[in-house]
Amino acid sequence: MRIESRCNNRMKVVNHVEQVRHALSLTNGTIGLVPTMGALHSGHRSLVERARAECDIVVVSVFVNPTQFNDPKDLEKYPRTPEKDIELLKEAGADIVFMPEVEDIYPEEDNRIFDFGSIAEVMEGAARPGHFNGVGQVVSRLFEIVSPHKAYFGEKDYQQLAIIRKLVTDYGFDIEIVGCPIIRESDGLALSSRNMLLNEKQRIAAPKIYATLCQAAEFGRSKSIDEVCQFVVDTINSDPELDVEYFTMADSSTLKEIVQWEKDQQVRGFVVVRAGSVRLIDNIEFD
Ligand code: PAF
Repeated sequence: MRIESRCNNRMKVVNHVEQVRHALSLTNGTIGLVPTMGALHSGHRSLVERARAECDIVVVSVFVNPTQFNDPKDLEKYPRTPEKDIELLKEAGADIVFMPEVEDIYPEEDNRIFDFGSIAEVMEGAARPGHFNGVGQVVSRLFEIVSPHKAYFGEKDYQQLAIIRKLVTDYGFDIEIVGCPIIRESDGLALSSRNMLLNEKQRIAAPKIYATLCQAAEFGRSKSIDEVCQFVVDTINSDPELDVEYFTMADSSTLKEIVQWEKDQQVRGFVVVRAGSVRLIDNIEFD
């Protein structure tokens, strides 16, 4: 569904690049950008509220970027709720909502290949070939269109956040990247637009993912990395609705997999779990 340009009280909803630029040319002050793919939830709301608290102008993009989907079926079934998104963004205090079509973002085919180095080769980079290149294409394009001072991304997609920090330093964007904490349901499930695709049984099972990560983090260094990995995979897989695609313990900065504990190394556990055809992603810090 296409939502034509409109102005809701103070908030402007626009579809085209020149409309965003025009709307921004009428403003003064720091610009905060929150890039999203829509189907917004309280996790996105927390990003918009943080941008609202820190910037004069808050721009939110709502665009399901085809170039970051390596599976056409996944792109097709990705949830789209534009009317509800606009309501949420109005409440959260956005100033400009940019809801482009594919031809607005990519007037020509985007053949750029980004080199994000080894952080793009592991976990999601290995599981979804081309995914991070697509993220690089769309985020750099949004940065060029909006020229924000700050841009806000959630830590649920921790690897994506690392890639975007690399995009900014390696490709010369003068933008502060703000990483924001994971927002969870009261039962611990990390908020995700994909959660709305879960059936009832899968939704009941899904909190086991975070509960298991918390148990594993509590073991901390009292168990070997192998034992932690085995525990996470076995515990989550013991639920017939859930199937671990991968669980990796990695260095929090380099994202390199670790096989043993090293003193003073910051470590995170990263998991992807399939509930039917829905891919759920989460991560946790280990002390
Ligand atoms: O995290 C997302 O929703 C997307 O990957 C992003 C950053 C909006 C790029 O399409």
